[in-house]
Amino acid sequence: MWPCGSHPYYYPHHGEKIRMSYTIAEQVDHFMELGYVVIKNAFPREDAEEWTKDVWHRLGMDPNNKSTWTQERTNMPAHRREKVSVLAPKAWAAIQDLLGGKERIKEDSATWGDSFIVNVGTNQLENATTTIDPRDLDNWHVDGDFFVHYLDSPEQALLVIPIYTDIKPRGGGTMICPQGIDLLANYLAKHPEGVLPTGLSFTPSTSKYEKNEDHPGYWSHLKEVKRQCTNFIEMTGEPGDVVLMHPLMLHSAAKNYLRIPRIITNPPVFLKEPFNFDRENPEEYSLVERKTLKALGVERFPFKPTTERRFITPARVLRQQKMLEEEKKRLEALRAAQANADVAVSA
Ligand SMILES: [Fe+2]
Repeated sequence: MWPCGSHPYYYPHHGEKIRMSYTIAEQVDHFMELGYVVIKNAFPREDAEEWTKDVWHRLGMDPNNKSTWTQERTNMPAHRREKVSVLAPKAWAAIQDLLGGKERIKEDSATWGDSFIVNVGTNQLENATTTIDPRDLDNWHVDGDFFVHYLDSPEQALLVIPIYTDIKPRGGGTMICPQGIDLLANYLAKHPEGVLPTGLSFTPSTSKYEKNEDHPGYWSHLKEVKRQCTNFIEMTGEPGDVVLMHPLMLHSAAKNYLRIPRIITNPPVFLKEPFNFDRENPEEYSLVERKTLKALGVERFPFKPTTERRFITPARVLRQQKMLEEEKKRLEALRAAQANADVAVSA
């Protein structure tokens, strides 16, 4: 049991001290090696069921009729949000550990919603006799389609994956490439002008090229994974588990061969200030900052963006606004049908 009454607590790690208040001390080495930790049973299985109870109505699909599962993956909009500290206190504690304490986190950003990412697979996958090589997956990226990325970006301080259904191997669990953290940290370190998320790629924000890929600083996640990644891990788990990853973790949606519907979300968490890789007191580095410095192979790295930080509105937002309206209509029809059934029973 690690002390959690007094804050901050300093955990001794390889001759250094790490600022830490809660309970992921035993996973520090794992995070420094692979860039992620799994918090088991971070929220109750019953909460996962409650949050997802309307998901099929919202999707307009029948859970018992696969012919209605017309879309392999759906990124749904959110209808409601709750504070992480209330929903999953263990995960909230771990998030603070990874980011160097509650005071560094924009608390109003620390909420989770019901913006589910549902992966139901396809008929073709269910009948497949082979498994696609992770290098050939078609969705490699890092999260954060809503801002210009810098090495120290505060807008997506972690990749957070709460799990709402059982995810077995080959069941569509997110595929990760931990080596990607090193690749992307070194790429971003060379681009203080910032890079735009341009689909499954990055393009320097100052590019004047007509075609993004013509810029010498263009980065294709798909190509770099094929060229440089050799180690892949599939994120399996159970309802209530939460995976917390370094923000530069390269990952891809994986194929759901089992067709057991897989439901997760990927809520970002914002820092109040950008990551700082040049702290006077090394004890003040957060674990994410330490992992980034390790990826760069240095103990300090002064970093200053040379352009203004800015948000962008991805096409996803407009798409999800439209989906939200459609889902609301389906839910209203469901509530009306339920109310009629109640009247019929009581009559
Ligand atoms: Fe993602």
